[in-house]
Amino acid sequence: MPKLNRAKDPENLVDRELTHVPQAAVAAEGDGYKVTVSVGKNPHAMEIVHFIEYVEIFDDETFLARQDMTADSRPMAVFHLKQRPERLVAKARCNTHGEWTNP
Ligand SMILES: [Fe+2]
Repeated sequence: MPKLNRAKDPENLVDRELTHVPQAAVAAEGDGYKVTVSVGKNPHAMEIVHFIEYVEIFDDETFLARQDMTADSRPMAVFHLKQRPERLVAKARCNTHGEWTNP
């Protein structure tokens, strides 16, 4: 199983963590919820040789949704859910630096 990278100290991101750890936010939207995921705190590069391939969101360990991306995408994804996740987890995969999660 590939390694899942995460911030050593989520309050103080350093080096590669700054551009890879997904930043997720939930907001009420109509009769549901909008989840916005940015990769990362400093936007990741989106170039043909180095880009974010996808973003996935989970409620704890339950898969909710996935957005595939290309080098033409911005390093962010927006999801529209019926229910607010109890424990939102986001994962993002960089084609060069592997899979990253928060928290
Ligand atoms: Fe990367």
